Amino acid sequence: MRLENEVFVVTGAQGGMGKETVKRFLEEGAFVAAVDLNVDGVEETDRLLPIAADLTKEEDVAKVFSAAFEKFDRIDGLVNIAGIAQPATPIEEVSLADWEKIMRVNATAPFLTCRAAVPYLKKQGNGVIVNIASISMVRPRPGLNAYIASKGAAVSLSQALAIELAEYGIRVNVVNPGPADTSMLGQFTAKDANIEDTKDSIFKKSVPLGRLINPNDIANSLVYLCSKEAAIVTGSIFNVDGGRGI
Ligand SMILES: NC(=O)c1ccc[n+]([C@@H]2O[C@H](COP(=O)([O-])OP(=O)(O)OC[C@H]3O[C@@H](n4cnc5c(N)ncnc54)[C@H](O)[C@@H]3O)[C@@H](O)[C@H]2O)c1
Repeated sequence: MRLENEVFVVTGAQGGMGKETVKRFLEEGAFVAAVDLNVDGVEETDRLLPIAADLTKEEDVAKVFSAAFEKFDRIDGLVNIAGIAQPATPIEEVSLADWEKIMRVNATAPFLTCRAAVPYLKKQGNGVIVNIASISMVRPRPGLNAYIASKGAAVSLSQALAIELAEYGIRVNVVNPGPADTSMLGQFTAKDANIEDTKDSIFKKSVPLGRLINPNDIANSLVYLCSKEAAIVTGSIFNVDGGRGI
């Protein structure tokens, strides 16, 4: 097993990619604190601790890490999957409130969770953080202005932390998913467009390998980056996108 007895905090754990990641991490022998706004119906086990938290709130983030540490006695890694989309919107119609909400969830929450995780990882003298950004950060799509800016911030934060934390044996990497088959994909569609049409005509067609990315593709990349196989990988931006970024 590739993550045997290692403890990970996984955010966005109830979403399309998050659920699959929690499942794969458990299959690989990890202990998981599975965090999302709502974790109703997720049963606590010896290896799985569901935690309800709004990661834009400092006090919630602090509780996540103290609860995870209390249950598992160590924390080896953080995988930030939580995020929100933006319906394609011309820049002049983006309200300050929309901009701030997207930045808060996609950029500030990773800052808060990374900041909370680092003391645990430093104490152990090793650890790993992976932040999920988006291939749209490399190849923007019209109208996703705030979303793309927020993911750019998450990538820059990750690289800043990769260099800052290398001397403590802490690796920090990014996964850039391409268009993925989750409920989020429909939320990037312009308000007046048909979701199913857009999925096929725009998103699927934009992937050179010819299909949407599955949550499992992302979960597998996260297993790799969190495992010892990636022991010398830090500061990398790993595109899991079927070639969409080329
Ligand atoms: N689906 C795609 O096409 C796509 C493409 C590129 C990048 N991404 C990114 O991948 C990640 C996962 O996306 P997904 O497709 O699984 O989406 P999803 O909507 O299925 O899951 C996102 C999860 O994040 C949680 N979340 C949102 N705000 C939160 C908060 N304040 N506190 C705690 N949890 C919160 C949601 O409740 C949800 O369960 C996101 O960061 C997204 O931006 C998605």
